[in-house]
Amino acid sequence: MPLLDVQNLTIAYHTRIGPVVAVNNVCFSLEKGRSLGIVGESGCGKTTIGMALLGLLPENGFVQNGRILFENKDLVALPAKALRALRWKKISMIFQAAMNALNPVHRVGDQIAEAIRLHNPEFSAARIRTEVKELLDLVDIPQKRVDDYPHQYSGGMKQRAVIAMALSCKPDLIIADEPTTALDVIVQAQILEKIKAFQRSLNIAAIVISHDIGVVAEVCHDIMVMYKGHMIECGKREEVFESPAHPYTIELLSSHLAIDSVFDFDSDMAENTHSVKRPLMPRACGYAEKCSHADGTCFTDPPVWHHISSTHRALCLKMTHNGQ
Ligand SMILES: Nc1ncnc2c1ncn2[C@@H]1O[C@H](COP(=O)(O)OP(=O)(O)O)[C@@H](O)[C@H]1O
Ligand SMILES: [Mg+2]
Repeated sequence: MPLLDVQNLTIAYHTRIGPVVAVNNVCFSLEKGRSLGIVGESGCGKTTIGMALLGLLPENGFVQNGRILFENKDLVALPAKALRALRWKKISMIFQAAMNALNPVHRVGDQIAEAIRLHNPEFSAARIRTEVKELLDLVDIPQKRVDDYPHQYSGGMKQRAVIAMALSCKPDLIIADEPTTALDVIVQAQILEKIKAFQRSLNIAAIVISHDIGVVAEVCHDIMVMYKGHMIECGKREEVFESPAHPYTIELLSSHLAIDSVFDFDSDMAENTHSVKRPLMPRACGYAEKCSHADGTCFTDPPVWHHISSTHRALCLKMTHNGQ
């Protein structure tokens, strides 16, 4: 039984123009100790999935269909109180841009301690202090920096402190939303290495969300590619990264290689407001208008899952026809 089994998840937002579907019929599962990368351009629904897993969708967001089975319990149907009990203790999240949300007037160690105290009110102050230091060790922050304020930390250290907070309740599943987006390339590599290391050594399942396929390929066992709310390709890391099948994945990979170290740090935040306004079940492929392989049927007929291997598949009508 997988730790997490997401089945036909469809999530929409109430807006002035009516409900808008942001995540459409997404399915994936995750075993304990494994990692899944969710990749796709801004606005394709990545953060929405993460928030739904945590039961933290914004007020106007709602699960329209599907199930989120965590340890065989459906989180969609779980009462708020039961969900709160799972949050942070079992499933935690490193939020997009979280390192900038560290409170500037509180010491970093105190902020990590607060996260521990909140979920373990029975712990003594001494025990919490010890745990804070152990967490700092885990993310390679020298213990003597425990009483520093956020401004005394570099960007990489702040992000590692945020990771320490997310690990503070020893969750079984951690969701990292754009964990390296605001960092320079070298620090980015260190953070990814750190995530990979604790994920493997603590046997935690991880979902790493990024607009950069290179980032998820660095850390994750499996990769799921999304486009405009739809999952369009999924498979093992090697399959998707080395033998991408869907034209959009190929495009993502070629632009990743082209930009290499030139990251567009803030685009994900900035673009969130004006993307994906799509009806529930598009009858044709959402990528057709940009796809160099598309022909007439791609604009009229629904795309079909093309199975490349038992673990690797892509949602593309052309590919199925051509047997590529
Ligand atoms: N609170 C909200 N109300 C309405 N639409 C939203 C809200 N949050 C996100 N969206 C829309 O849902 C889509 C997916 O957003 P998001 O999950 O943030 O994408 P990503 O994380 O992949 O950039 C986007 O079109 C975005 O504009
Ligand atoms: Mg996002």
